[in-house]
Amino acid sequence: KRIAVFISGSGSNMLKLADACEAPAFPAEIVAVMSDKPEATGLTKAAARGIKTLSFPRKAYESKQDHEAAMLDALAEIQPDFICLAGFMRLLSGDFIRAWEGRIINIHPSLLPLFPGLNTHQRAIIAGMKVAGCTVHFVTEGMDEGPVIGQAVVPVLPGDDADALATRILTVEHQLYPAALERLAAGNVWMENGKAVFPGDA
Ligand code: GRF
Repeated sequence: KRIAVFISGSGSNMLKLADACEAPAFPAEIVAVMSDKPEATGLTKAAARGIKTLSFPRKAYESKQDHEAAMLDALAEIQPDFICLAGFMRLLSGDFIRAWEGRIINIHPSLLPLFPGLNTHQRAIIAGMKVAGCTVHFVTEGMDEGPVIGQAVVPVLPGDDADALATRILTVEHQLYPAALERLAAGNVWMENGKAVFPGDA
């Protein structure tokens, strides 16, 4: 399966997906890495691996609609089977998501439905959580509320600050995302009637 990865920053999750795709038996290949930030260091790292990269600087477009139209046009050319959002920091419009619903996934650094949005680690600590983690989910119109494909859990330790917790979670993100992508690309999870469906589900 052909995968386009959207990033806005370091792209550590994208790089782990790229590593996983290098295994011959892995059912996916990354055909493009796209970013809304031309300076995203993940673009340089992807290009160094010979992956096609494209950037769509938000300020180069009159409107969000034009910005998304440019990305949709590029996707029509590249024709990925799935889109993986990985540290992509823009909210995609309903039109964009409807065009890709069921074929676009995201990794979010919390155990959804807890802590959608930003500053998830600080919020988990303030809430007194004893566990935290990350979620890979199908992207739907609402922010961070699509059907869950997989989750990974880590302990919140005494004395943790947001950075310590973020570092611990990032480690399990890097295992969860490739595993979730393999399941999706292999057809072992799909989205139906707004739900994630797994083979063997009743
Ligand atoms: C990670 O915490 C990820 O969960 C969130 O963006 C952060 C940075 O990801 N989506 P990356 O290093 O750019 O992959």
